[in-house]
Amino acid sequence: MKVVFSLGGSMVCPDDIDSDYIGKFSKFLKEICVKHKIYVVVGGGKTARKYVDVARKFEANEFFCDVIGIYATRLNACMLISSLNLNQIPFESIGDASKSNEKIVVMGGTHPMHTTDGVAAMLAENVRADLFINLTNVEYVYDKDPKKYLDAKTYEKLSYDELIKILNNSEMSASANNILDLVAAKTIKRSKIRTLILNGRNFENLKNAIEGEGFIGTVVE
Ligand code: UTP
Repeated sequence: MKVVFSLGGSMVCPDDIDSDYIGKFSKFLKEICVKHKIYVVVGGGKTARKYVDVARKFEANEFFCDVIGIYATRLNACMLISSLNLNQIPFESIGDASKSNEKIVVMGGTHPMHTTDGVAAMLAENVRADLFINLTNVEYVYDKDPKKYLDAKTYEKLSYDELIKILNNSEMSASANNILDLVAAKTIKRSKIRTLILNGRNFENLKNAIEGEGFIGTVVE
């Protein structure tokens, strides 16, 4: 199978670069790449927010803040490449990443106005991936932030339109913290890409999800 991961920045760099998690994730990738072709698009996390916050103090415009965010995602992608011991430089375009013969292909952001979720979904579209997996720090898609609201509703299954409706209530600004960006949601809808949204720290669960076993997370199809 071809599997495209959107690895949220909150996984690789929640407060600081999480070398322990990156190490565990690369070990997992090395195991599954024997059977599957893997693409990983890495998010910016705190690296992006830290630099964007400073740039905003200097009144940088939103376009430029996006550019800074893109560099941050590539820097985090370099950390994953290091732990995988790959001879690779993060791909800067979906076209180049799609053409790669490597077993594990790693990239960060590409252009302003979307996030690495959008990049990952478009990459999934271009390589005709069997599965698109968004790795986050929560178990499911919820109707509101489960860390703030105890009564947040859990969605185990969503249609593409239901997901878009949930996301439409959130705002698009540089370094906004949403479960999946709208570009990604619209991309998976138009190409009917089977999408899983789940916690990236539970590797047993993630393996079950890829192998078609029962798992904890949200399925969008
Ligand atoms: P992320 O993909 O990490 O987005 O890119 P995010 O939603 O803010 O954070 P997480 O990872 O899901 O927690 C960081 C920022 O970089 C810019 C955007 O401003 C984004 O918010 N970016 C990233 C782009 O403009 N284009 C890209 O292709 C990727």
